[in-house]
Amino acid sequence: MSSVPVITVDGPSGVGKGTLSKRLVERLGFNFLDSGAIYRALAWGLLHEGHSPDDEAAVVQLARHLPVRFQDGRIWYEDEDISEAIRTEQVAGVASKVAAIPAVREALLQRQRDFARPPGLVADGRDMGTVVFPGAQVKLFLDASPEVRAERRHKQLKEKGMDANIDKIVREIRERDARDRNRAVAPLVPADDAVVIDTSDLSIDEVVERACEVIRARGIDC
Ligand code: DC
Repeated sequence: MSSVPVITVDGPSGVGKGTLSKRLVERLGFNFLDSGAIYRALAWGLLHEGHSPDDEAAVVQLARHLPVRFQDGRIWYEDEDISEAIRTEQVAGVASKVAAIPAVREALLQRQRDFARPPGLVADGRDMGTVVFPGAQVKLFLDASPEVRAERRHKQLKEKGMDANIDKIVREIRERDARDRNRAVAPLVPADDAVVIDTSDLSIDEVVERACEVIRARGIDC
């Protein structure tokens, strides 16, 4: 087990992981790993450099030398701020595809573990509790029905002024889910010792409260 306390927050997209993680980061003063943003940055880089996501050699090569930096809550690719650009459904689709390549996941492993620095870490993703931080002190797994998640994503995109078609979002969420849950490496499943929280009928405050109960039970103030 790592000496730095790690709280993992795993689950499918649109389930509220990002919102919960940020609230926990505020409450605990911990560092934050948005692992999905790393896969999205890789996808963005491929599109930007004109590589096909099917060109596995090029994808792995870029994953090994990904010129991405997280600084003051922003995400940089070389000198370009890509914080917003990586949030499109197109980038998410490519991210999900390249995330299924074992050598890509291997190449990004140490980079993610390096985020575990004092006073602690909240790690948001799909395989944080199973693969990246198997010794984490607290493992949370959020779930919710695909319909609820699609509605949330739809609302988020509209608020950002992005084009959003609900039927298309439901379809894309289902496709991405199937790929994330069924892939051979690091599939989206709760760790054996994870606490599963179904957020379908809970407000964000209720999700935070439930998470904090679990965190306090492991001896971390929340
Ligand atoms: O959480 P997100 O939507 O930003 O993630 C984008 C994609 O990256 C998602 O479809 C699956 C992949 N991903 C992953 O495979 N493992 C993670 N730990 C995080 C994200």
